[in-house]
Amino acid sequence: MYSLVVENIKCIIAAGGLGTRLQEFRGNKSTKILLDVNGTAMINRQISQLVNWGMRKFVIITNPEYLNMIREVTLGKFQNLEIDFSIQEEPKGISHALYQARDYVEENEKIFFVLGDNFFENNPFNNFDVNNFHEGACIFTTEVKNPEEFGVAKMDIDGKVLSIEEKPTHPKSNHAVVGLYMFDNSVFNKIETLEPSARGEYEITDLCNIFVSENKCMNLNINGWWIDAGTPERIIELEEKLS
Ligand code: DAU
Repeated sequence: MYSLVVENIKCIIAAGGLGTRLQEFRGNKSTKILLDVNGTAMINRQISQLVNWGMRKFVIITNPEYLNMIREVTLGKFQNLEIDFSIQEEPKGISHALYQARDYVEENEKIFFVLGDNFFENNPFNNFDVNNFHEGACIFTTEVKNPEEFGVAKMDIDGKVLSIEEKPTHPKSNHAVVGLYMFDNSVFNKIETLEPSARGEYEITDLCNIFVSENKCMNLNINGWWIDAGTPERIIELEEKLS
C-alpha cells in the first residue's frame, strides 16, 4: 500500500484559516484540522491519504495559535516522514498560505498543494503519471450540482482550461475545482504579483488564472467521491463514506 513514492515533489498542506464554519461543532474550540473524524484527527487522515498517493515530504501551513498542537499530533503519528511547519500569521487567503512554504521548496522540486480539509475516494494520480508533470500548473476538477460554492473552471471542447472563477453567482460550468493543485517552482514569484480580491484574500483561483493566461494550466478530471469537509454536514458525510 505504501510502496509508491513520487520523487522530487514537496507536498504543501493548507491547514491555516479560521475554520469559523466549524467552531463549536462537537465542542470544537480550536481548528477544524484537528477535529476528530472517525477517531482520527483530520490532519492525520489527510497525511495518510497523501502518503497513500506517494507523497513523503510535507510542509504544513498553520496559523500561529495551533502550530504546537498540530506539530504534536502529526509528529506523534508520523515519525518516518519529513514534515516541516510554516506559520501563516493571518488568514489572508489560500495563495498567501502557499507562499509561506517558499523557503522549504528545493529548486528541483515541484509542488503538490492540498487544502487540508479535502478528501477523496480515489488517488487522483491513478490516471496520470505525476512524474510527467514538469512545467506550469495542473488543476483537478469534478462535476457538481452546486458549482457556485467552489472555484469553477471553464474548459473548451478539447479540455483546455479557459478560465477559473471563485464561487461565481452565475457559474459558467459545473466543473468544480477541488482542493488539489500541482505547480512548478515559478508559483512563488507569481503569488508576489497577486492583488487581494474584493473579499480581501489572495485567491487560489487568481493564481491559477496566471498560469491559464500563459497557456500553462492543464486540467485533470477526478473520479469517485470528493468531500470538502468545511461544514458540519460535510464532516458527517465524510465519516459515513469512510466507515
Ligand atoms: O474545496 C475546494 C475549494 O477550496 C475550491 O473550489 C475553491 O476555489 C477554494 O477557494 C477553496 O474554497 P473554500 O471556501 O473551501 O476554502 P476555505 O476557506 O475553506 O479554505 C480551504 C483550506 O485552506 C482550509 O483547510 C483552510 C486553509 N486556509 C484558508 C485560508 C483562507 C489557509 O490555510 N489559509 C487561509 O488564509
